[in-house]
Amino acid sequence: MQRHRIAALLMAEKPIENIIIKGWVRTKRDAKKFSFIEVNDGSCLKNVQIVVDETVPGYSEIKKITTGSALTVKGSMIPSQGIGQKWELQAAHVEIISLAPENFPLQKKRHTDEYLRTIAHLRPRTNKYGSIFRIRSELSWAVHQFFRERGFRYIHTPVITGSDCEGAGELFRVTTLNPPIPMKSKQKIDYSKDFFGTESNLTVSGQLSAEMFALSLGDVYTFGPTFRAENSNTSRHVAEFWMIEPEMAFCDLAGNMDMGEQFIKHLVRFAMDNCAEDLDLFARFVDKNLTKTLENIIYSDFERIPYFAAVEILLRSKETFAFELVPGADLQSEHERYLTEKYFRKPLIIYDYPKTIKPFYMRLNEDEDTVAAMDILVPRIGELVGGSQREERLDVLEKRMAAAGLSKESYWWYLDSRRFGTVPHSGFGLGFERLLMLITGVSNIRDVIPFPRTPGNIDF
Ligand code: 4AD
Ligand code: MG
Repeated sequence: MQRHRIAALLMAEKPIENIIIKGWVRTKRDAKKFSFIEVNDGSCLKNVQIVVDETVPGYSEIKKITTGSALTVKGSMIPSQGIGQKWELQAAHVEIISLAPENFPLQKKRHTDEYLRTIAHLRPRTNKYGSIFRIRSELSWAVHQFFRERGFRYIHTPVITGSDCEGAGELFRVTTLNPPIPMKSKQKIDYSKDFFGTESNLTVSGQLSAEMFALSLGDVYTFGPTFRAENSNTSRHVAEFWMIEPEMAFCDLAGNMDMGEQFIKHLVRFAMDNCAEDLDLFARFVDKNLTKTLENIIYSDFERIPYFAAVEILLRSKETFAFELVPGADLQSEHERYLTEKYFRKPLIIYDYPKTIKPFYMRLNEDEDTVAAMDILVPRIGELVGGSQREERLDVLEKRMAAAGLSKESYWWYLDSRRFGTVPHSGFGLGFERLLMLITGVSNIRDVIPFPRTPGNIDF
């Protein structure tokens, strides 16, 4: 049967008759001769208030309706006599689809995010999590819109791969081998008996595949799940996350930075324009500075400085850091946050990192010590984007791979792209969950992904 969605009904200009809504009860209040039931159907943050008077068939059963129950309500949208809402639904008929028992966990009171993580299957029925996941959906569309408007093609890169793009060894192994595992020698597993005949794993990045398509179709992007077995239990890492990776042919590092900056600004602006009601909840209850932070991203020019200039600033700063800053080593998230939050007070792009701390595919600079890498850092999050210009020169690439201990044989296809019509090209990866943290002000990454996967947690 046809149903009306509450989001559309609440925007009504005039009363409407013969409405059918279906949804879940948030609260109910009983007066002597009627009841008010707040129903939410997930289409928007707001509930619709249902007024049921004692003349409605089955009123004695309706009085037993509990929080969490599912209903179908037929009636008319009329101007509300109460305050707090413009419209209410005068019920002519209420059908109880299912009655939730009294132990439904989401009774009307505030719950902590920690508790709600233990009921991740129910948390999208709360205001806050409903809003998060509507914003997540809207922003997914915004990603595709941004690239489509610019002529990029959407590529589905494999989830199961035989390569390790980032070379950080944070791989989840994919295997069909069962104990007893066939061994070649005491230490070596005999992968020839495995499904693919060789070691394989879940992808840590679609980049290497995306490069092949950028060098064929021009500008492309991937947007898919990404897996990293890093055992860091932080508020910014999950084992399974979604990454957006554009890859652009005939594009250098400066062009890559421009694209990254435009992309982030587009997504923030899109959320402010299209998710205003949901965002308002975060601006009021989660982060009072949210609107300012977001406007700062849209309206400021991102600062751009080389890695060693960033190190200089950090060494000169009077800030005390938990981790010592070692020039030439990776910046810790506290260093990144100091630079973007306190020093520049706006997004910051750090480029030209030492080659020793970056993967093999990044283009070697003339100094032969740094590579054409760039990370985009934003307030409250730190690193949001990591990218680079790619090494397009075959001989240089081969040397870098040898230094990284990668075999030419297993990356023969990647090297081929540098043999046949190689061109300068660049790309980056943006962590979708980190973007959502930025846009909502939510401080733990576990709260912006439907069912978070972290060390020791695979429930739901
Ligand atoms: O900097 P990363 O490792 O870059 C790459 O993987 C490149 N191959 C991308 C490219 O050039 N095509 O990861 C990119 C982004 C990070 O900046 C971060 O936002 C996110 O992915 N990310 C994570 N997000 C959540 N949990 C994790 N464990 C993440 N690891 C990286
Ligand atoms: Mg990175």
